[in-house]
Order: sequence, then C-alpha cells, then structure tokens
Amino acid sequence: MNNGQKVAIVTGASQGIGAGLVKGFLRIGYRVVATSRSITQSPDDRVLAIPGDIADWSTGEKVIGAAMKQFGRIDTLVNNAGIFLSKPFTELTRADFDDAMRVNLVGSFRITQLAVEQMNPRNSGHVVSITTSLVDHARSAVPAALAAITKGALNALTRSLAIEHAARGIRVNAVSPGVVDTPMHAKEHHSTLAQLHPLGRLAQVDDVVAAVLYLEAATFVTGEILHVDGGQSAGH
Ligand SMILES: NC(=O)c1ccc[n+]([C@@H]2O[C@H](COP(=O)([O-])OP(=O)(O)OC[C@H]3O[C@@H](n4cnc5c(N)ncnc54)[C@H](OP(=O)(O)O)[C@@H]3O)[C@@H](O)[C@H]2O)c1
Repeated sequence: MNNGQKVAIVTGASQGIGAGLVKGFLRIGYRVVATSRSITQSPDDRVLAIPGDIADWSTGEKVIGAAMKQFGRIDTLVNNAGIFLSKPFTELTRADFDDAMRVNLVGSFRITQLAVEQMNPRNSGHVVSITTSLVDHARSAVPAALAAITKGALNALTRSLAIEHAARGIRVNAVSPGVVDTPMHAKEHHSTLAQLHPLGRLAQVDDVVAAVLYLEAATFVTGEILHVDGGQSAGH
C-alpha cells in the first residue's frame, strides 16, 4: 500500500551503521525495509525486516518484492551490507576473494538493479552506497586490497549510474567513511585506528548517518563520493 510516506531500504541493517541508518530514516518520517542475514522483525510497524544473505541474488529479489508489496514504493536504497578483511595481499585466499566480491559487490549490484527498476517509472529515487576511504587513500598499516577493489567498484558504479539515470531524476551517491566505531573493529584497535584520521578520532555511526541523510535531502547532488573520514583522503 502506497500512502505517500517515503520508503528506504537499508542493507546490513542488524547492527553498526545499518542499524543507525534505520533509526535515522525513521526519524525523518520514512518507513524502512531492513535486511541482513540475522535481522529480526522490530515491534515498530514502520519497519519491515527481511532476512537474507545479500550475496544471494534471490535476497535482492525478496527484499524489493516485499517492499513493493508492503509499502508500494521505493524512494531510497542504501547499500550498506559489507565485510572487511585486512590481510597482506599475498595471503588472501580464494575464499576471501569470493566472500568480498559476493557480499560487497555482487549483492549491492543486484539489489540496486531491482530498486532502480522500480524507481524508473516514477522518475525519482536515490541510491547511496557505503564505500571506504581506503579506496582513495591506501595505508601500508592496513593492507586492504579486497576492500579497495570491491568498494572502488561501488564508487565507479555510483558515478556510472548517476549519469545513466540523471535525466530521470534518479540520484546515485556514495558515502566513503574512514574507520567507524562499530562492531566491525575490536575495541582494542580503536586508538591505533583513530590515528589514521587527521582529526584524531574514529567516526561515530551518527557521522555516517548524517552524511547519508544530507545526501537524501541534497536534491542537486548526484555522482558524489562524500568522504566522512576525518580528513583521511585529503592527506596526512
Ligand atoms: N566500520 C568501519 O570502520 C567502516 C569503514 C568504512 C566502510 N564501512 C562500511 O560500512 C558498512 C557497514 O559497516 P559496519 O561497520 O556497520 O559493519 P558491521 O557492524 O560489521 O555490520 C555489518 C552489517 O552487514 C550485514 N552483513 C554482513 N554480511 C552480510 C551478508 N552476507 N548479507 C547480508 N548482510 C550482511 C551484517 O548483518 P548480519 O550479520 O545480520 O548479516 C551487519 O548488519 C560496510 O559496508 C562497511 O564496509 C565500515
């Protein structure tokens, strides 16, 4: 049912940045479709939880189908589900490569296709992907080739889709964080990781949520890779 209230889909919504994004979109009056492998239904009837592994193409189909059935529209998709592995390049295994490609890239690719298919006839919509500043600013202390190639591909997809869909009024952007204080990084590494940022602290989930909500409201911004990295991509 489409009652005029906007609808955002958030992948990787069970914890960390994704859980913050669900709250952020609810705060600005959206209904939210939240997906991840372990997600469970919230008591809030403005949230529809759809469990699934984003690496499976069928999950994208299930999520988009459920969003259309329950809410009748898709205004925004946030591709947030992702995994991170820091390992020397020569130690990466075939399984590491496959996992990173499937979760970070393939999953986002398919659900984006299906979301944009629903946005096209309405000539309106917004896709935001959460990437990483390690794409633009590699650090020898944090070898992260798989993050660089998968999130770098999402940055490239962002620009490509932004141009392909600009004439239809569909915007496509990315938020590129530095290190964020989420369960992704063990607490004992936080003070070392904070030093990667010229501003000298980790990002908080709300720093990333604020950037996504800025892009959501910024109707003349598309094809943008918005760095939320305490200056990391600018230099040291
Ligand atoms: N934290 C950082 O420092 C940082 C920096 C730059 C970019 N990022 C990016 O920001 C995004 C969110 O990171 P985070 O720090 O919030 O991570 P997180 O706390 O580890 O949360 C990751 C989320 O992704 C979901 N997820 C993981 N694998 C999945 C799969 N195969 N299918 C569906 N969902 C899956 C997890 O839920 P389930 O376990 O329930 O599936 C969880 O909700 C990621 O794309 C990450 O690469 C994070």
